[in-house]
Amino acid sequence: MSASVTLSGRARSLTAGQTLFAAGTAAGILIPSSCRQQGRCRECLIEVTAGAALLTAPTAEERDLRPGFRLSCRCRPADGAEGTIVAHTLLRPTLRIEDRALHLPASARGFAHDPAVRRDGDAVLLDGREVHRGPGPILGIAIDLGTTTVALRVIDLESTAIVASASFENSLATAASRPP
Ligand code: FES
Repeated sequence: MSASVTLSGRARSLTAGQTLFAAGTAAGILIPSSCRQQGRCRECLIEVTAGAALLTAPTAEERDLRPGFRLSCRCRPADGAEGTIVAHTLLRPTLRIEDRALHLPASARGFAHDPAVRRDGDAVLLDGREVHRGPGPILGIAIDLGTTTVALRVIDLESTAIVASASFENSLATAASRPP
């Protein structure tokens, strides 16, 4: 018998030295990474709910994670480990940005629109000072950097129309540090 992992509900046997990141990816699980599994981005965070003792000791990059959390690119089965590790990624399958909320207007119509950035012919002005010249749209981006979710909207500053929106889970904040 050797070690295996059930990661986000998908079971996979672990080969010697294989990281949970590699096992999860081989099982078709999307694990975010922007550091090429170098232990720097922390996007590959997982929560280990069983079998944590079967894993190698936390590395220097994992030292300030809360108990039960590991970087999947840094942990692998310890030598001679036998049993099953159960873990899950912190990404939810889908996120939705709510368009309506209590006490907020359903649209910008009827409200005074007073942007700092305006157009005067081809000139784009910021507080009256020309910062750009060109005929294209004037777009702004609104970012809600939340503890669990990051939401972004691209807005046409002349019409207030929402041009695009996106959201993703803030996995870095979920890996909050231990109290000192
Ligand atoms: S992939 Fe970047 S820290 Fe693990």
